Amino acid sequence: MGKKIVLTGGARGIGRAVVENLASEGHEIAFNYKASKDDADQIVRKIADNNGTAFAFQSDISDYEQAGEFIKNAKEQLGDIDVLINNAGITRDKSLFIMPSEEWNEVINTNLNGCFNVTRHLIGFFMKNKKGNIINVSSVSGIVGVAGQTNYCASKAGIIGFTRSLAREVAKLQIPVNCVAPGYIETDMTAKIPEKHRKELKKMIPMQRFGSVAEVADLISFLVSDKAGYITGHVFAVDGGMTA
Ligand SMILES: NC(=O)c1ccc[n+]([C@@H]2O[C@H](COP(=O)([O-])OP(=O)(O)OC[C@H]3O[C@@H](n4cnc5c(N)ncnc54)[C@H](O)[C@@H]3O)[C@@H](O)[C@H]2O)c1
Repeated sequence: MGKKIVLTGGARGIGRAVVENLASEGHEIAFNYKASKDDADQIVRKIADNNGTAFAFQSDISDYEQAGEFIKNAKEQLGDIDVLINNAGITRDKSLFIMPSEEWNEVINTNLNGCFNVTRHLIGFFMKNKKGNIINVSSVSGIVGVAGQTNYCASKAGIIGFTRSLAREVAKLQIPVNCVAPGYIETDMTAKIPEKHRKELKKMIPMQRFGSVAEVADLISFLVSDKAGYITGHVFAVDGGMTA
């Protein structure tokens, strides 16, 4: 049966692929985005053309009030929500000795605090109804260190700790909380990496290639499904063997 799903950062990249995949499987989705209104509108239209249901809202998850507004809007459109996918995230890569505190804060506020802000507005509802499912998008950068990414790695490792702790808090209520940790995936985020560096990175990946957004979206579809009901508190890497 179709589920009602809320996702952050759905206008591009991995989030977009997840939204389109889940809509094609018959789920109804409300997603937000920070700035890509044209992309978001186009996704909603494309899903409607295929007889699916999606709603898009502009909001900034790093702001607690805006995160609450997003959840309120999503509930108004969808009714009871079954699944939350915390996907939105940013990078501001720089060696620590030249990193401005603004860039440290921007990454932590978006990636880690954003995850708290959105989940905090929904968790009480999930607990009261004794149902729900939370999937957080971390990164292999939350498992291993990456030079130039102290802010990003700290935020993504924080998401893993958040996931494991929350999973234990709500397990008795049968609410799974899991993490997906992508490696290098072909998106706008990784398109910023210079070609020479991409070649070097591919040599370090056992499968010697970047992953596709579809390869991440398919794992998330499984975690959304009832087939994954007994899995909680775990981190699933989709990384071509990088953390093997
Ligand atoms: N691309 C990769 O290789 C890769 C690898 C590991 C993890 N990830 C993680 O996957 C997730 C998606 O990454 P992507 O590559 O698709 O990124 P992307 O830059 O292509 O898309 C990010 C999306 O998040 C939204 N967003 C950003 N800041 C926001 C905010 N403050 N409020 C609301 N929405 C906001 C953007 O509007 C956009 O829709 C991120 O959490 C990222 O850290 C990506």
